[in-house]
Amino acid sequence: MGLLWGTQNQLVADAAPVPANCRIIPRPVRMECGQGEFTLAGKTVISTPRIVATGASRQAGQFLADRLVAAGVPVRLEARGQEDGAISLSVSPDFGLGTEGYELEVTPRRIRVKASGAAGAFYAVQTLRQLLPPEIESGEKLPGAALKIPCVKIVDKTRLPYRGLMLDPARYFIEKAEVLKIIDGMSYYKLNRLHLHLTDSTGWRIEIKKYPRLTDSKNWPITEEERGRGFYTQEDMREIVRYAQSRHVMVIPELEMPQHSVIATRMCPELLCREGATEDAEICAGSDRSHRLLCDIVDELVAIFPAPYLHIGGDEYLGSGWAKCPDCKNRIRTAQLEKEDNPDLAATFAKASGKKNKYLLYRYLMRRVAAHVRSRGRIPVLWDDLAWQGKPPEGAMILQWHYKGGMDFFVNIPWAECPAFQAASKGHDVVASPFSHLYLDLPCSVEKIYGFEPVPVGLTKEQERHVLGAQANNWDCPADQLEFRVFPKVIALAEITWSPKSSRDY
Ligand code: ACM
Ligand code: ZN
Repeated sequence: MGLLWGTQNQLVADAAPVPANCRIIPRPVRMECGQGEFTLAGKTVISTPRIVATGASRQAGQFLADRLVAAGVPVRLEARGQEDGAISLSVSPDFGLGTEGYELEVTPRRIRVKASGAAGAFYAVQTLRQLLPPEIESGEKLPGAALKIPCVKIVDKTRLPYRGLMLDPARYFIEKAEVLKIIDGMSYYKLNRLHLHLTDSTGWRIEIKKYPRLTDSKNWPITEEERGRGFYTQEDMREIVRYAQSRHVMVIPELEMPQHSVIATRMCPELLCREGATEDAEICAGSDRSHRLLCDIVDELVAIFPAPYLHIGGDEYLGSGWAKCPDCKNRIRTAQLEKEDNPDLAATFAKASGKKNKYLLYRYLMRRVAAHVRSRGRIPVLWDDLAWQGKPPEGAMILQWHYKGGMDFFVNIPWAECPAFQAASKGHDVVASPFSHLYLDLPCSVEKIYGFEPVPVGLTKEQERHVLGAQANNWDCPADQLEFRVFPKVIALAEITWSPKSSRDY
């Protein structure tokens, strides 16, 4: 690769070593390290020139100012075009830097940031924070602080738009303050999607006004107090969403079904099959009663979460009670669920948790709820089971959790397809989070995560565009282990999703 700026400064590109004071994670697309430093002191101005997107540059400027003031550097924010001695943040679509891209130039005289949108300006500031001495993140005022920032020129943008983390407050409740702290940590490394697994057989963590029973934890069938009996009120959750938005993190809620639903079925027995339900029964796939209740919950989630995505679960279904349920049996007939049968379906049933009727009901349930989600203007997200066992619902995004060469836990059939490949080749957007590499609860080194490539081989260029990114999932995590589990592993994820593939260097 040639020198981009044609100077004698050191261009850091691809896998070349980076000087110690210029280390940025995730690694920027282009970085040129120069001579000297900019000195940041109390008199420094952060200027947000009045050009097109003043609001966006002000937000990023305020975010930086808050951090510097907290570290004892009383910078001032001013809406003017000053450049000499200042940090100037300019945001305009005319720069053509994309939604998340930015340019950052540090010279001894000034720091100049350009971005085309609010996210890009924010990420420039996050990069700047990493160029400052790490002590500024200590949360304490630094005595007589005059901070040095090394001279660099950076041009940066993300490789993939979806850079995610899943937290599992359903299993062990996570206090709101801790969620906010994780959001801070994620956004520091330019991760931008927080998937919250809010419901499972061990907890229901989001207030649903129409069914307050769901969060009535003293009646939950759990014995393990340490899992916590808390939940997020809708107001709590709106606060989390706003906080995340201010850091360009989208919060995506997950409502599990039909498996992993013991709390839901115990607290709302109308979700159960009329006959045949067992202790750990799943949600009835055939009744209008259960469907209405699920739709009511979806509607409340839509009102809380502005994200374009709403995850409706769909993993590991067993359908153990469905065979005896009159509603489920009728539904197979009245909805003509076998109508779509084709030769491929026989092969599908061999992989699909056993019986054909169970598969048909499972597919029906997921399609029906997905259609409701779509009717509310949101994109349904599903775990990958329907991607490799058959056809995902129309317009659904798939979250890959099986890995090529993995195993379906319930039928013990080894199989060879990569669900991300299957989904993308059928025209569905997909995010890679295979348990083989990206489950933070399973033994997996940072190096193995770093070696993971989200885009499966063999897709056409057009199909590759459906692979939106990757996500790490942190299941079943006691509160006191949360930060330790998440960091530093997600930092590796940040680099494999943001930085050019060619520059990866563990
Ligand atoms: C999953 O791990 N069952 C999505
Ligand atoms: Zn039923």
